[in-house]
Amino acid sequence: MMLSLPKKVTIIEVGPRDGLQNEKLFVPTDIKKQFISGLRNAGLEEMELTSFVSPKWVPQMGDAPEIVADCLDGNARNFVLAPNRKGIDRVYSTDCKAVAVFVGVSNSFNLKNINKTTQDSMAELKPIIRELKEKNYFVRACISTAFYCPYEGKMNENDTIKLCSEFVEAGVDELSVADTIGMAAPNEAYSLFSQLKNAFSETILTAHFHDTRKLALANILASLQAGIDRFDTSAGGLGGCPFAPGAAGNAATEDVVYMLERMGIDTGVSLDKLLDAIEIVRPHLSRPIESSYYRLHAQTV
Ligand code: HMG
Ligand code: MG
Repeated sequence: MMLSLPKKVTIIEVGPRDGLQNEKLFVPTDIKKQFISGLRNAGLEEMELTSFVSPKWVPQMGDAPEIVADCLDGNARNFVLAPNRKGIDRVYSTDCKAVAVFVGVSNSFNLKNINKTTQDSMAELKPIIRELKEKNYFVRACISTAFYCPYEGKMNENDTIKLCSEFVEAGVDELSVADTIGMAAPNEAYSLFSQLKNAFSETILTAHFHDTRKLALANILASLQAGIDRFDTSAGGLGGCPFAPGAAGNAATEDVVYMLERMGIDTGVSLDKLLDAIEIVRPHLSRPIESSYYRLHAQTV
């Protein structure tokens, strides 16, 4: 029997944001800009560029205004993250028209990440989302710890679905549902994404897998089977949340693109140009690139 698969998949590149936010050494702003440009050149149209968070909490994202000033390309889905009113007001002072808000299903994680309970974050964000929609912004909601939490363990699927439904009622365009610490197994990914697909047929659904246990590709295949055709990935497999201990990087864009293209699914991404983009940022990273595609194909000395 044939697998049921889409003909085309959209990759949302999160390397400039999720990929770099956890890097120990500050990556120079100009290198970040060149990296973003290289990723675009590889065919990655939707991208998380940066985040408007506290520079004391996440110094690596302290240059968000400079990044946005130079890196918008007219695509409606150049995302910037913002967790609160202050972040949204900073976005309003730019030309960016696509915002990603983020909240954890796990209260303990949300407290560590945003210094608020999940409920308090939602109370702050719901009117903000309505306001953003009135102003014609594209709004993406990132749902962290949708499967497991580093502090609370396994999350209840119903709690994740309930949080997603609060966001949908508030008016978001997209839900990006995340396995923050890379602990979901493919049956769990299939189960959650099948239910989300049924429950939110009018909402754009995206899966965001971290690859801590090398299950991201298997989870992506399981999610494809559940009808998901959008995945957040990070060039070089960089990434991780500074407030989720033990979380490794995102699924590597090049490994995901390689797998999908081998399956006959169009991603629109050039692997050669993607390697060129990784080479721009690699000398500034404090860790090696560990993706399989990079290991086999990069011309490094
Ligand atoms: P706080 O300390 O509770 O905030 O932090 P506060 O309101 O008390 O303000 C403290 C200081 O931060 C003040 O400055 C504020 O002005 C400033 P001071 O007066 O001390 O000089 N401040 C801000 N500055 C810039 N931008 C802002 C902002 N808000 C307050 N938006 C806060 C609360 C939310 C700011 C903090 O907890 C924070 O920045 N958290 C962000 C953490 C983060 O970036 N995490 C990673 C992104 S989420 C993620 O990676 C998961 C995801 O990939 C999906 C997945 O994998 O799960 C999306
Ligand atoms: Mg993430």
